[in-house]
Amino acid sequence: MKKRIYNFSAGPAILPAEVLEKAQDELLSLGGIGMSVMEVSHRSKYFAPVLEAAEKGIRELLEVPENYRILFLQGGASLQFSMIPMNFLRRAADYVVTGAWGEKAVKEAKKCGAVNVIYTSRESGFRSVPEEDELNFSQTADYVHYCSNETIDGVEFKYDLDGKGAPVVCDASSNILSKPLDIEKYALIYAGAQKNIGPSGVTLVIIRDDLLEKVPANQFSMLDYRAIAANDSMLNTPNTWGIYLVSLVCEWLKEKGGVPAIEKINREKAKILYNAIDQSDGFYQGHAEKAARSLMNVTFRLPSEALEKQFVAEAAGNGFDGLKGHRSVGGIRASIYNAFPKEGVEELVEFMRDFSGKNG
Ligand SMILES: Cc1ncc(COP(=O)(O)O)c(C=O)c1O
Repeated sequence: MKKRIYNFSAGPAILPAEVLEKAQDELLSLGGIGMSVMEVSHRSKYFAPVLEAAEKGIRELLEVPENYRILFLQGGASLQFSMIPMNFLRRAADYVVTGAWGEKAVKEAKKCGAVNVIYTSRESGFRSVPEEDELNFSQTADYVHYCSNETIDGVEFKYDLDGKGAPVVCDASSNILSKPLDIEKYALIYAGAQKNIGPSGVTLVIIRDDLLEKVPANQFSMLDYRAIAANDSMLNTPNTWGIYLVSLVCEWLKEKGGVPAIEKINREKAKILYNAIDQSDGFYQGHAEKAARSLMNVTFRLPSEALEKQFVAEAAGNGFDGLKGHRSVGGIRASIYNAFPKEGVEELVEFMRDFSGKNG
């Protein structure tokens, strides 16, 4: 195998090497049919088992009950910011905002109707998530929306939010499949695939049947969850290559022992990294409050921007890519999704100790 470096990118992000190798193996001839998955009709007998495997894989891994549909859409998680209010916002919706992506979702929803931001941690720099009993939902909310893991800020909910009667809609783009979810608490969960599920260009939507009935009758077809579900995600040509990779990622994760097994490893990886931050005598400063620290995106600062720049450059020289924080917030961000190996975290921590020793 060609040499791979440690890729801490927030997304598109590292994919399991085994998945890439399998895809490479089958690139010219999917399962011996003499054609690539990209070259066959999405309505052919060749693609049907691929779509089925991807759907089944997600259903099994996340224990999705039968009264939910699993859809593969396009337009990224960002299109969901619009599709959700276009389909379900009638009177008003509640939004819980704990970071940059939640704010973007609010911006789109406001174009459709009334939005109540019932919680935002903007003032304190998106470092925290609310306690469950801090949230007061509107009595008439069509739904409550939140982002379970804010990729840019590195803050993560430690519980599945309970809408107290209002349907819960969740952007789980950057932590889906990283730990078990209580799916029944949700009406709709969505995620761009390009972190824990597969490549960019596929968006996973898990939607409860009763929500499909609420889609307005005159909805544009391509924005209509009911029509998309009725056509098994094939209202138009889906991202066949992307869905194929999703099926391979699911297979890989099952072989690893599934979501509970990967959660255990994710917790170990995050602990190693947060410990290094906490034991650095203040050289490294974690961005998120301890109780809200993300298992997937570890965000931290160094004593100066100059040192952060130097850190990123020296890290790159040592085989660590993708550590620069998001352009909107700066700092350092190490994204350690399911496919990121524990050894890479251990090696980064060694590099961090060495760097702080030399520059502290
Ligand atoms: C939490 C979260 N939501 C939404 C998005 C937007 O996703 P996309 O680029 O697929 O539209 C991202 C992208 O990184 C994200 O991390």
